[in-house]
Amino acid sequence: MKSSGIVSLALSLSVLIFSCGKKEEVPSPKIGLIAEKAMVVSAREEASQIGLKILQKGGNAFDAMMATEMALAVTFPFAGNLGGGGFMVYRMADGSTGSIDYREKAPMAASKDMFLDENGDFLSQLSTKGALASGVPGTIAGIFEAQSKFGKLKPSEILQPVIDLAKNGFVVTAAQADRLKRNRETFIDVNGPHTFFAREIRAGDTLKIPVLAATLERIAKNGRDEFYTGETAKILARYIQEKGGIITEADLASYQAVWRDPIIYPYRDLKIISMAPPSSGGVTLVQILKMLEPYDLQALGHHSPEYIQLLVEAERRAYADRNYYLGDPDFVKIPVNELLDTEYLKSRMSNFSFEKATRSSEISQGNISFAESMETTHYSIVDAEGNAVSVTTTLNGAYGSKVYIDELGFFMNNEMDDFSAKPGVPNMFGLIGAAANSIAPGKRMLSSMTPTIVEKDGKLWIVVGTPGGSTIITSVLQTILNVAEFGMGMQQAVESPRFHHQWLPDLVNFEPNSFDSTLISTLKARGYLINEANSPIIGKVDAILVLPDGRLEGGADPRGDDKAAGF
Ligand code: DON
Repeated sequence: MKSSGIVSLALSLSVLIFSCGKKEEVPSPKIGLIAEKAMVVSAREEASQIGLKILQKGGNAFDAMMATEMALAVTFPFAGNLGGGGFMVYRMADGSTGSIDYREKAPMAASKDMFLDENGDFLSQLSTKGALASGVPGTIAGIFEAQSKFGKLKPSEILQPVIDLAKNGFVVTAAQADRLKRNRETFIDVNGPHTFFAREIRAGDTLKIPVLAATLERIAKNGRDEFYTGETAKILARYIQEKGGIITEADLASYQAVWRDPIIYPYRDLKIISMAPPSSGGVTLVQILKMLEPYDLQALGHHSPEYIQLLVEAERRAYADRNYYLGDPDFVKIPVNELLDTEYLKSRMSNFSFEKATRSSEISQGNISFAESMETTHYSIVDAEGNAVSVTTTLNGAYGSKVYIDELGFFMNNEMDDFSAKPGVPNMFGLIGAAANSIAPGKRMLSSMTPTIVEKDGKLWIVVGTPGGSTIITSVLQTILNVAEFGMGMQQAVESPRFHHQWLPDLVNFEPNSFDSTLISTLKARGYLINEANSPIIGKVDAILVLPDGRLEGGADPRGDDKAAGF
């Protein structure tokens, strides 16, 4: 970064530690990009830079959101999207907060058993690949709703650098070329041999997507209606139906993003501001934090067996509640206050002991009495006025349903798999759902996306989030605890290895090669079942920390091509 006021500290610095007269070299903690006033951290450098350019032009965080989100749709089609949806949590410089839900919705022709065969067996292929897997996209509605309420610039001005990027191209990274190659046959299988991504694309190639540039030009000119009632809507509905899907022009025309009250709860001296249902993120994150609160985590020690046990046991209990109680609040009554009640959460942990693991089979949802009437990307932005937005957006799986609308230049989501297609049967993240998350026309599928903002002493402190399906919540949790309990900086907190438990399957996942074998054996001896074979990379966290002097430190996850940009 050449911009003035920015100090990017060398990552290879070492500190010398003298112990028992012996000189030992311990790598000093990694420090992320430091900026004086404003920052964007996202999955692609081009997207962070375009967001930054909008901030430098006098735009605010909501203008930068529109620019960054669309630049990710161009440069990161794996997850960035026009054909998906997401959630945004904001905190204004004056401390007011809110959130917008632009989650996809089931089309009106969807039905509870649409992914079951005549024997009632779940056809997971149908909910993950092909046109039937797509919900009605919410992304364009979300970014226009947020920008029109709070932004300062004109959408056409914001979208111009993104249109230029799609026209002039961007350089394909090695990881990206590899992902495109791995999925090429499926793209051809779903869309035919002439589809755009049927071509061979190598690392270092400059990829131009003129058709997407043209779609974005129409959206810049005609606004959100272009996507929901204009030419784009007509092409989208026609293609989806040709491919056996059920999204109609009427589904698109009736889509609305929804402003929702965020989940706001204290944890020690912090205030956690996170996403409410239809994302499970905020409720589950706060449930876990409140179950941890009675314990002295610092005394247990970072990544000690006891620290891991405690988090795993809280996660086990919170995910059991998540899978039973949570769904779309416009369709089911969700006992949010009861689930977050301190006494209730204390009682949930009453059978926990450091001696021995609880079995998930012994845990189900807690008893609450109330009247019943995977690919994603996250970016964090702080602007020069001190407004913050935390945004997670997704197509669900890698390149979503793999349905690519060649006339429009983007992939469609496979978010229908986030519904519980059959109670008790896991979806692609192994999550098991219940009636609260069953499919119904016009309903939003339950999400794990956890865009979060943390306040300390009444001031903005952390903006954080990540992709990772069911692991999203536990990655956000550990990143916050790394800073709040263990004093890490933002980059160090993001890079720190992560682990995960989600009730069922009853397994603890550890990031490969990151935790030592003694720790694993100790946990096994205490009865923990450990997935050592196939632990995926857990999340790609992109976060911003406000330092004590008011400057910002970015945390850009090296597990991806993620980058911070600031001034
Ligand atoms: O909304 C959800 O929880 C999922 N559709 C997120 C998918 C995801 O994070 C995939 N990324 N790795």
